[in-house]
Amino acid sequence: MELKEIYSNAREKMKGYCRVCPECNGIACAGEVPGMGGAGTGASFKSNVEELKKVKLVLRTIHNCKNPDSSFELFGEKLDMPIISAPITGSSFNMGGALSEKEYVDAVMEGSLEAGTVAMTGDTADPSMYITGIEGIKKVNGKGIPIIKPRENSKIIEKIRLAEEINPMAVGVDIDGAGLVTMALKGQPVGPKTVDELKELVKSTKLPFIFKGIMTVEEAEIAVEVGAKAIVVSNHGGRILDHTQGVAKVLPQIADKVKGKITILADGGIRSGIDVFKMLALGADAVLIGRPVIIGAYGGYSKGVETVLTNMKNELIKAMILTGCKDISSIDKTKIVIE
Ligand SMILES: Cc1cc2nc3c(=O)[nH]c(=O)nc-3n(C[C@H](O)[C@H](O)[C@H](O)COP(=O)(O)O)c2cc1C
Repeated sequence: MELKEIYSNAREKMKGYCRVCPECNGIACAGEVPGMGGAGTGASFKSNVEELKKVKLVLRTIHNCKNPDSSFELFGEKLDMPIISAPITGSSFNMGGALSEKEYVDAVMEGSLEAGTVAMTGDTADPSMYITGIEGIKKVNGKGIPIIKPRENSKIIEKIRLAEEINPMAVGVDIDGAGLVTMALKGQPVGPKTVDELKELVKSTKLPFIFKGIMTVEEAEIAVEVGAKAIVVSNHGGRILDHTQGVAKVLPQIADKVKGKITILADGGIRSGIDVFKMLALGADAVLIGRPVIIGAYGGYSKGVETVLTNMKNELIKAMILTGCKDISSIDKTKIVIE
């Protein structure tokens, strides 16, 4: 399947929700939450894209890196690429509903697996959507990761127990979902967590624990201290708070302090394999992809997702050849300059 066809199908199916712009940068869809945009003026979404643009790759071709290895190990699972599908919910209210929640989840789980990687699933005010995600992960034999909203700890632990039944690779909480008033209005309150509450969550399960939505060095260090196995440096694709910094801007400081102590995942504004390379060079161990995977699913179901992810992997490998990186761990800050 061609990317062009995927975009054209998605544009048709997502009418009124996503314009599938030539550059997915948060400008046309500013304020469209629910929808596909960023919160308020869209500044946080736009910053993700703008900060990545300031990073330039250093072209080097006198070396012996002829067949780079793009594989990456996540919690004992070997993936063909350091690229994972991000947790996404709300096919009806965010994307227009041409795909049911189940169709969306299945397309992403299957497409990710076909491409040689895995997907995360999300949680929202409608609790059935978390279950749809869990069922989707079960279908791919546990090769996925559910991410739970920062509800009261007792409610999160109930959802962790449901996850444990399908033996996923890990479990996590998007702690940056703490301000979602819509969840409280629907009787599903969320909120910030104390360090002790985080400790209780990590201790409640044997599964590796992920905290998604870390944007400061201090909170990354807390994640290490409480025993989490991974963080996602993320501002939720700019959807939860207007005028935050872009992820590519804060990532190097976080990586300086916690690299090697915890797996660093990062997301926000990554649109190509070149962008993946940039995030890795800035300190991420692997990345999550949000909107491009949605467009893949809407434009071509599982085949669309597979095509989008495989295309990113191929671009990443090409960038590794042209910068002299034999494997993922060779991608470091000496391979980029920030303008
Ligand atoms: C429509 C939509 C729904 C989302 N739903 C969730 C969710 O349920 N849980 C979650 O942790 N993040 C959710 N996110 C955030 C993504 O997981 C990810 O952090 C973000 O999309 C990355 O930015 P990108 O879209 O620019 O790649 C959602 C994002 C979008 C666009």
